Amino acid sequence: MERTLVLLKPDCLQRRLMGRVIARFEDKGLDIAAMKLMRVTPELARRHYAEHVRKAWYPELEAFITGGPVVAMIVAGPEAIRVVRAMAGATNGLEADPGTIRGDFSSSQQMNLVHASDGPESAQREIDIFFPARVGGAR
Ligand code: CDP
Ligand code: MG
Repeated sequence: MERTLVLLKPDCLQRRLMGRVIARFEDKGLDIAAMKLMRVTPELARRHYAEHVRKAWYPELEAFITGGPVVAMIVAGPEAIRVVRAMAGATNGLEADPGTIRGDFSSSQQMNLVHASDGPESAQREIDIFFPARVGGAR
């Protein structure tokens, strides 16, 4: 079993798509091991997106991710990190394959509905950021 950090981004909630997105994970047989509705502060955004903080587009990303509530989830299952990334699809909704969350619901490079950890180290780092009480913890 693997655990990965998924965020339903502000566009997902604003468009009232969270039920449909969560249903895809459930349909796949993944477990929602933790879930909370929250706001991302600028400080949290800088930690979560540390690899992007210096990019030209980071200020717009920060404004987007802090601009409305998100749902943070730990999604668990066999090979969950790779499987959830595949279900999310390519970053840009215009390039994401049909059948993926971004491919089916997004036509934007920024407003692409979901975040999914991109590997085991990011998954652990991001779970620790969003669910600090669960560091090293059980499901
Ligand atoms: O989320 P993913 O790992 O697929 O993409 P990323 O390259 O790590 O970028 C993180 C997030 O920044 C994306 O999901 C987009 O929401 C946003 N982004 C953006 O606003 N403008 C870009 N040129 C690239 C990404
Ligand atoms: Mg990324």
